[in-house]
Amino acid sequence: MSQIKLPGLIDVHTHLRVPGGEHKEDFATGTAAALAGGLTMILGMPNTSPPLTTRQRLADTRANAQQNAYCDVGLFAGASREFLVDLPNAAQEAVALKIYLNDTFGTLRVDTLPTLLACFETWPREKLIAMHAEGQSVAVGIGLATSYQRPVHFCHISRQEEIELIAQAKMRGLPVTCEVTPHHLFMTEADFKRLGPLADMRPKLATQADVDALWAHLDSTIDCIATDHAPHTLAEKQSENYPPGIAGLETSLPLMLTAIQENRISMPRVIELMHTNPRRIFKLPLQTDTYIEIDPTAEQTIRNEAMHSKCGWTPFAGQTLTGRVERVLLRGQTAFEAGQVVAIPGSGVVL
Ligand code: DOR
Ligand code: ZN
Ligand code: ZN
Repeated sequence: MSQIKLPGLIDVHTHLRVPGGEHKEDFATGTAAALAGGLTMILGMPNTSPPLTTRQRLADTRANAQQNAYCDVGLFAGASREFLVDLPNAAQEAVALKIYLNDTFGTLRVDTLPTLLACFETWPREKLIAMHAEGQSVAVGIGLATSYQRPVHFCHISRQEEIELIAQAKMRGLPVTCEVTPHHLFMTEADFKRLGPLADMRPKLATQADVDALWAHLDSTIDCIATDHAPHTLAEKQSENYPPGIAGLETSLPLMLTAIQENRISMPRVIELMHTNPRRIFKLPLQTDTYIEIDPTAEQTIRNEAMHSKCGWTPFAGQTLTGRVERVLLRGQTAFEAGQVVAIPGSGVVL
């Protein structure tokens, strides 16, 4: 058994389902899953029901997090036409703004140019704008970053043409950053054929050529690994109009540690992608005395029954991965050890 110490990892893309989806996940179960995955800080997405589009809703959700979270949590405000006027107020309760340009789970969408421009004009410049942008919407985001001369972060980039466009924008010095998810690095559309709804998410799984392009840009263009943890119950996934999304908090680090063992990426680069860059890009506070202990060579077979996430299933179940989280320390206190959360509810700080 060899143990090494890493900084607490940060996930800038988690769906925590409060309010309105607590049967899928809540702050206790979601942050327990985060600790189990070696993450000590997560940023929650606003596509809840109702969505986090107003100052009041963000304040209520933060209060819920403060009572229940086991790790540190920040929230995204969601952009909507309806609550544009409240956006500057909402900014006081949020780490960043999320703009949905394409269809996905939930009702949040910005589909008119005036609304989109108003977001760029009213959202405080010192806080980041992140986008769910697929295909040509990536070009829209790069155009706005250029025109407004302010940073835009692209969520879950998954296609060769998208990552190549972002690489080109970065080469020209434009203020854009991006994340990729482990599921887009470790699965292809062949896995959707095999698993059906259990491997359906937005963006959908892509071709092997797309996956190869992401790996080729992992040492350069890509800034962050983000889980896009999007829990839905098994019953929901087995229904006719099944929702897109899969859990990711508990498998992301083991998948990346396995890639290290296979010499596909280095440990220093994984730390950049899962700690240093997320913190810099989203201007997140340093967590003092916070680190994780991992055994990089321990093998574990992923089991649905061992998950802390309320959804209780993952498309990676049955796979044997190399690398395991042994212990998590949050501000000097053991928060997770031997597969169990030992922190008390509310010990997470709400950003
Ligand atoms: O697959 C997805 N699920 N993609 C998204 O953009 C949203 C997410 C969810 O909230 O379930
Ligand atoms: Zn998204
Ligand atoms: Zn998402």
